[in-house]
Amino acid sequence: MKDEQESSRRSFIKKLTTATAAVAAGSGFLASQSQAKSFSIQKRLIGNSPNDQVNIALIGAGGMGTQDTITALQVPGVKLVAVCDLYDGRLKDAKTRWGTDIFTTRVYKEILNRKDIDAVIIATPDHWHQQISVDAMHAGKHVYCEKPMVHAITEGPAVIKAQKETGMIFQVGSQGVSSLGNEKAHELLKSGAIGELNYAEGFWARRAPLEVWQYPIPEDASPQTVDWETYISNTKNRPFDEKRFFRWRNYTDYGTGMAGDLFVHLFSSLHFITDSVGPNKIYASGGLRFWNDGREVPDVLLGTFDYGKTQAHPAFNLSLRCNFVDGTSGTTYLKLVGSEGSMDITWDKVTLKRNKVMDSDDPFYLDKLKKAGSGYAERKKMLPPEEITYDAEKGYKGGPYDHMVNFFTAIRNKGKVTEDAIFGYRAAAPALLCNDSYYNNSPMFWDPEKMQVVKK
Ligand SMILES: NC(=O)c1ccc[n+]([C@@H]2O[C@H](COP(=O)([O-])OP(=O)(O)OC[C@H]3O[C@@H](n4cnc5c(N)ncnc54)[C@H](O)[C@@H]3O)[C@@H](O)[C@H]2O)c1
Repeated sequence: MKDEQESSRRSFIKKLTTATAAVAAGSGFLASQSQAKSFSIQKRLIGNSPNDQVNIALIGAGGMGTQDTITALQVPGVKLVAVCDLYDGRLKDAKTRWGTDIFTTRVYKEILNRKDIDAVIIATPDHWHQQISVDAMHAGKHVYCEKPMVHAITEGPAVIKAQKETGMIFQVGSQGVSSLGNEKAHELLKSGAIGELNYAEGFWARRAPLEVWQYPIPEDASPQTVDWETYISNTKNRPFDEKRFFRWRNYTDYGTGMAGDLFVHLFSSLHFITDSVGPNKIYASGGLRFWNDGREVPDVLLGTFDYGKTQAHPAFNLSLRCNFVDGTSGTTYLKLVGSEGSMDITWDKVTLKRNKVMDSDDPFYLDKLKKAGSGYAERKKMLPPEEITYDAEKGYKGGPYDHMVNFFTAIRNKGKVTEDAIFGYRAAAPALLCNDSYYNNSPMFWDPEKMQVVKK
């Protein structure tokens, strides 16, 4: 593996050097390569017959479930037949959007009992993911389950077991992993574009109330329009509380805080790009600084994660940050840093930065050079390109669409998805352990290969 990496690294550097030489010769080759480089939409697996209609149902028809369904319905041959939700307003909205002939219900088992449904999208709050996923697979339904795959670290094995036992297709919804941007980053890292990976970081900056989970509460919210009993039936019993229902992310009974909501996306992308199975040490810090609205989760969270050396990658460190009181707002990024450069990665763009050849006027450094025998240190050098941006081709439908195509193709071909239950658990676990570290005020240890918490 090491030799393979070294040889692809050499070939990547050779390509860059050749490009540099071409520019020096005035051929304009590099200009065409490096400026907003467009990487073509790779052949995607949509060649199979859309005549194989796949009937889907949505369970949890809020913001993301609606988006997921809109995206799924863009894939040829996919039809929505039913929607389940615990709030009547969402069922009414679903009929308005998708037609009065869709079947609607508050009871997800009524969806699972229907013979005409092949697959379900599960986009409920996190505390329902495991149970509905397991029940759905045992009922013979393929599952697209939103991230994080599970609400508690103990819940992962049951989903993995159900997937193995039933053989149903199960995809977790961190859609970035299917994007061209993530694929390109994977390819660049493998080719040695940034040398040896040693560090990665991710960051979210948010500020607006809607972005930080203060969602509007519908005027008609009441125990009559909301099935509160079912909502809390797998967690602590409490009287009806509209905030706990419509702003569930702020409460630990239902949500998984910043780590489960946001960090999990970066674990998924990072693991996909690096072929990693996960970190072995997790440490979090943070606090509730501003949003004193009754929330039980911090609004500033920092996580550091140690990834051990594996066959796929060297040991490296990851730093993740999330700030919901960030006056600059609107920033999200994932960066991978190696010994020879770095990559900024989004779903449709990768910016590769390579080290400059060091060209210093520091007298101390120049003196060192002289002593080392490089007498003519001030002579200018040929520089390799410093920055290359790879942009997705115009018209690219994006990671969410690719992720759905990946799911439906696997269903039709009895194939594999990018983000199965094992992948999904390995992405969710460090996020959930990050929360445990924050609340326990101590590092957490994880065996990512065996997928077990390690007691120290
Ligand atoms: N992949 C992404 O980019 C992304 C983005 C946003 C949210 N999500 C995930 O999607 C899920 C939903 O998030 P959201 O923002 O859409 O929340 P939301 O509150 O807008 O929607 C959740 C819906 O589920 C319904 N619900 C609750 N319990 C249910 C149950 N037992 N059965 C049926 N319906 C039930 C609620 O009434 C609500 O309509 C979460 O797990 C979240 O982490 C993923």
